[in-house]
Amino acid sequence: MPTKEVIILKELLSARGDFVSGSLLAESLGISRVAIWAHMEKLRAQGFDFEAVRSKGYRMTQRPDTLNESLIKASLPRVASNLEIALHDEIDSTNSEAERLLANGAADPFLVLSKRQTDGRGRLGRQWHSPDNGNLYASFAFRPEVSPARLSTFTLWMGVNICECVNAFFRVESNVKWPNDIQISGKKLAGILTEARMDADQTRDLVLGIGLNVNGVAADWPEELRATATSIREEIGTAQDANRFTASLAGRVMLAYEQFVSDEYRARLKDKWKSYDALEGREVSLLHGDAKISGKAWGIDPHGALIVERADGSRIQVRAGEVSIEK
Ligand code: BTN
Repeated sequence: MPTKEVIILKELLSARGDFVSGSLLAESLGISRVAIWAHMEKLRAQGFDFEAVRSKGYRMTQRPDTLNESLIKASLPRVASNLEIALHDEIDSTNSEAERLLANGAADPFLVLSKRQTDGRGRLGRQWHSPDNGNLYASFAFRPEVSPARLSTFTLWMGVNICECVNAFFRVESNVKWPNDIQISGKKLAGILTEARMDADQTRDLVLGIGLNVNGVAADWPEELRATATSIREEIGTAQDANRFTASLAGRVMLAYEQFVSDEYRARLKDKWKSYDALEGREVSLLHGDAKISGKAWGIDPHGALIVERADGSRIQVRAGEVSIEK
């Protein structure tokens, strides 16, 4: 059930800057106009502002510039309307929190967000730098009824969908570097960390963790990240609306998840991957077991493995690893 504040925000957002009458709000919520005023004061304390005119009602004049749970909920598209959302100021890792909640029996699907992570983690045991700087740290939690074998394409499918959502929302041109990076002009914009718990032949639960640099600025990043990372703000030059974007991303992830579970995604993955593949036709090298492999990348196989063509023309399928682009 949405809270009263979320319902009020929804009304004000759909008025697109016009006035919404206080009595209409009071009537639709079944509360007094004084109670509406009290909710407006609570919203003001969160960084919203409203113009109140006696004969016209309220209109929104300012939104918080940091992540705000009520605003994200009020902006969610219909496809994500059953998604529970919790936003923290600080947490160790949104993936860890989602896993704890799943283990304690929380109903799925849900989304854990945090403004900052003290122990954010990336793939291959790496740390994910997670200060409170307007970047997004998000974990979606699910209990999918799919066999573990089918999960090998999950991160790739989510990656192309996140990439497409970023491009449409911000009008940028990001692409996907197999298996889990989203980048712009070769610099990392986002990383995905999928973690699943399996029973013998069933997936018990699944967490899709996304770290996406929205409003971080390079000047604040550790030296070693400046050459390799970017953010939407760095690319566009101005701060962006992370609340509206988070709501849009939630809608895209929910839709992509439904398509994944119903298997509807299968026919589309190959084409979508081709549209956003950062590696296609590039000379790459990677570790395959203990051996270093070099060759040309030629997309993915139906199981999500990277196809690499070696100098002698033989092709191998690589299931996991860290790719470097050579040329
Ligand atoms: C990678 O590129 O190595 C994946 C990075 C994933 C980082 C995100 S931030 C939100 C979620 N919580 C975590 O601890 N990690 C993921």
